[in-house]
Amino acid sequence: MATRDDVLAALRGVRDPELGADVVELGMVKHVEVAPNGRVEIGLALTIAECPLRGQITDDVKRRVRALPGVTDVAITTSAMSADERANLMSVARRRAREHARPTQVSPTTRVAAIASGKGGVGKSSISANLAVALARRSFRVGLLDADIWGFSLPRILGVSDRLHADDETRLIVPAQVHDLKLVSTGLIAESEDTALMWRGLMLSKALEQFLTQVDWGDLDYLVIDMPPGTGDVQMALSRMLPQAEMVVVTTPQVAAQKVAMRVADMARRSHMPVIGVIENMSWFECSHGERFTLFGEGGGEALAEELAVPLIGRIPIDPAVVASGDHGRPVVLGAGPAAEALSAAAERLVELLPPAAEETCTGRLARLFDHLEQTSAG
Ligand SMILES: Nc1ncnc2c1ncn2[C@@H]1O[C@H](COP(=O)(O)OP(=O)(O)OP(=O)(O)O)[C@@H](O)[C@H]1O
Ligand SMILES: [Mg+2]
Repeated sequence: MATRDDVLAALRGVRDPELGADVVELGMVKHVEVAPNGRVEIGLALTIAECPLRGQITDDVKRRVRALPGVTDVAITTSAMSADERANLMSVARRRAREHARPTQVSPTTRVAAIASGKGGVGKSSISANLAVALARRSFRVGLLDADIWGFSLPRILGVSDRLHADDETRLIVPAQVHDLKLVSTGLIAESEDTALMWRGLMLSKALEQFLTQVDWGDLDYLVIDMPPGTGDVQMALSRMLPQAEMVVVTTPQVAAQKVAMRVADMARRSHMPVIGVIENMSWFECSHGERFTLFGEGGGEALAEELAVPLIGRIPIDPAVVASGDHGRPVVLGAGPAAEALSAAAERLVELLPPAAEETCTGRLARLFDHLEQTSAG
């Protein structure tokens, strides 16, 4: 059963995207109460009552806290900060900005979806690539990171063979540009002996760290991360370095697969990474007569989603087009067919669940106002 401290720890994962600090250190959490029946009451003070970030922050708080063991319900009341509290918040945000001069190259306003699964071969890479392309087609600014350092497959799925290089001036790695998104993968690192050895020598979590700190991602709405199979180093490193990261768990309809996926979700919880939802892949095969065959069992996705109390984001049918397009570098969502439709719908659902950060927000305006005041009083 989660304690008040667990709730506070989970709340540290909720960042005000513009102030770059979490809601606890910003003094936005006014009270936390955990009832014996698992109901959690949280009082949040927002910078202003009609803060446009309100929905996003309360949704994030709900998702994080609901993911804690034993929590049955989360009730949030919001209020507005006093002028003193606001001044305090701005000084925390400033100190924070000075001390932690952006630890990664990923903007705090970027929504991060890590596509994970308990076992290999369930379709993480195909789904990551297609979700990312579908988001880019909807005009979002999208990055796709291949965190499967040894087993990379995104370059082939997306049809990229460029070698990555570093910009002479910034010394940051420039991502490959493909299907309107930015891609980084070890598969795109120059294949000279030296670099191959260098990458082999790196620990997995170190490699991920390089991809987050030394790649010029620019301003992204979404960063989709194709996770390596299983649990461990990479998941932990990710939640430590990108506190805003959330996880999508991929499973097959088989009940055995669902049990394995549950372990990934467990690990996500321990590292305070919320699970946004479940995608069931290879759900059925429809023959040319319109008859559906559930080749890999039935109900695994739904059961897992229910167990985790998160939505089932989508069910993707078995479609030979996925295999063919993966070999030709043209993701299925760019065409038509049963998998293409299901994957586009899943991307749409993901946007609903994880809406892009608002561009013009109260804290952003506040920050500019303070800057302006500081400048005018200094001048
Ligand atoms: N819906 C689908 N219909 C048909 N084939 C699919 C579907 N999803 C994935 N595949 C195929 O299944 C294989 C495994 O998929 P993929 O590489 O995406 O899985 P993965 O989970 O990333 O695997 P790994 O754990 O090895 O990284 C690939 O050949 C892919 O083309
Ligand atoms: Mg893969």
